[in-house]
Amino acid sequence: MKRRHFLKSSAIAGTVLAFSGANIWAKDTDARIEVLLDEPLGEISPNLYGQFTEHIGGVIYDGVWVGEKSKIANQYGIRSQLVDMMKQIHVPIIRWPGGCFADSYDWKDGIGETSKRPRRTNFWEVDPDAIRLHDKGPQLFETNQFGTNEFIRFCQLTGAQPYLAANLRSLPALEFDHWVEYCNSPAGSTTLAEVRAAAGFPEPFNVRYWGIGNESWGCGGNFTPEEYASEFRRYSDWIPRYGIDLQLIGSGPNDNDLDWTHRFFQRIYSDRAYNNPGFTGWSVHHYAWNLSRGKTKDWLAGKGDALRFDSVDWYELLRECDRMEQIITDQWAVMGQYDTQHRVKLVVDEYGPWYREGTELDPTHIFGQQITLRDALATALTLDIFNRHPEKVGMAACAQLINNINALFMAHEDRFFATPNFHVFAMYAAHQGGQALRAEFSAPDVHYMRDDRPARFWGLNGSASRKNQVVTVTIVNPDLSKTIETQIALRGAEVTSASGTVLAASEMHAHNTFDHPNAVVSTTLAIAVGAGLLNVSIPAASVSKLEIVLR
Ligand code: AHR
Repeated sequence: MKRRHFLKSSAIAGTVLAFSGANIWAKDTDARIEVLLDEPLGEISPNLYGQFTEHIGGVIYDGVWVGEKSKIANQYGIRSQLVDMMKQIHVPIIRWPGGCFADSYDWKDGIGETSKRPRRTNFWEVDPDAIRLHDKGPQLFETNQFGTNEFIRFCQLTGAQPYLAANLRSLPALEFDHWVEYCNSPAGSTTLAEVRAAAGFPEPFNVRYWGIGNESWGCGGNFTPEEYASEFRRYSDWIPRYGIDLQLIGSGPNDNDLDWTHRFFQRIYSDRAYNNPGFTGWSVHHYAWNLSRGKTKDWLAGKGDALRFDSVDWYELLRECDRMEQIITDQWAVMGQYDTQHRVKLVVDEYGPWYREGTELDPTHIFGQQITLRDALATALTLDIFNRHPEKVGMAACAQLINNINALFMAHEDRFFATPNFHVFAMYAAHQGGQALRAEFSAPDVHYMRDDRPARFWGLNGSASRKNQVVTVTIVNPDLSKTIETQIALRGAEVTSASGTVLAASEMHAHNTFDHPNAVVSTTLAIAVGAGLLNVSIPAASVSKLEIVLR
């Protein structure tokens, strides 16, 4: 924390000498960022920029899938506008079919002739949002028009890798083996490969990433960690491989539940150690939902509103999202007590702010909510956290891609727009595959009153990475009223040019709609390149990206 504040003048002078021999920091600046080119932190896996699609509300039906006969532009039934925009942000991985839905899903229902596929009761039919629906549509009764083949097609069209979540609660382990066999067995090798070929897919899908259940502490079976460890062993001990280095992701904690991680890892590593080289991921879910300022832990009562919020709610939401950093470091420390070589990395496959119902764009969009500038900052600061911990976080997926929670897109029938979150992912795509660099952000905290008591939040934060001669720095300014005059120094490098992009708006509730799809979009940010330093004005309540070209 100390590093985020202004260093004392003697410390600044010492720092500056190291890269210029003179005090190059201007005195009248608000903040300083020092990018340490000689302190790489590890490669930022492109998979940190993944997305999540579940059979819930308007995600698949209305969002992704419009059907081959639809008048809405589509490719093989998949919404074309969505595909095109996902390609723009280089979505590396898509998680499917859930979420909680995964543990009630029988993959066999979603293959073969579409007209013959069964209708089944959707996991979410008991949700209050679903109960209110009069239309007995796919939100209540799953039609299975979108199954494994259609999902793989979606991945192929967007260029993403599939990440499938297996049903551990209500299907036997053998069914999981058969799903892998259906997806990955070579052309002509097994009966399931022939079924796949009959559907138009002779070549194997080669799915590498498999979730072994979802939220097994909750909707995925209500297991104890010890029970789940036994199930995990059973489901993952033998799986057909076909030469593919399957990556198995265990169902990790809710938020920062250290007990779940301790007890699971203890069972896997200590008691008759289970050395499965495929076990490389441990999922974490963190939703920022409790805006009650400590008054309640009730899931419904504690939630805030997506559109009606004040400045305190603004900072509190960002603070809730910022807890991600502590979760990552705490969970990593516990995992390392057992997995001493750190073979297993964190997979944050559900994250984002989650508000009470009421701002969804259509009643069928269960957990649909509007996305404002506040959520763009929340998403950006989360991605910066992942970038700062590339050795710990191997994969992540925003919950969810479209029409649900922290969406990048909204669609209903033939209408479609990108939310401010899309613009964050577009800006941050430059970090994918880059070498993360340590960067020191020094800025005064933001002060505000929280229920008549003083509270504070960091004043500027972000992340940096390098690809060849280009350094990307992303910066979040959470301050609602203050433009921050910022100086940036790149130790040990000469800058030839720099360009900037910024996502900001005239007020904190700004958001895009079907009628005003471009209310919040990114624009150019001016950067002055001086001797050894860059100077930039970071607008209040904004996300910025600097692309700096080195000689
Ligand atoms: O993303 C919505 C739900 O939140 C998911 O189905 C579940 O995994 C989580 O509780």
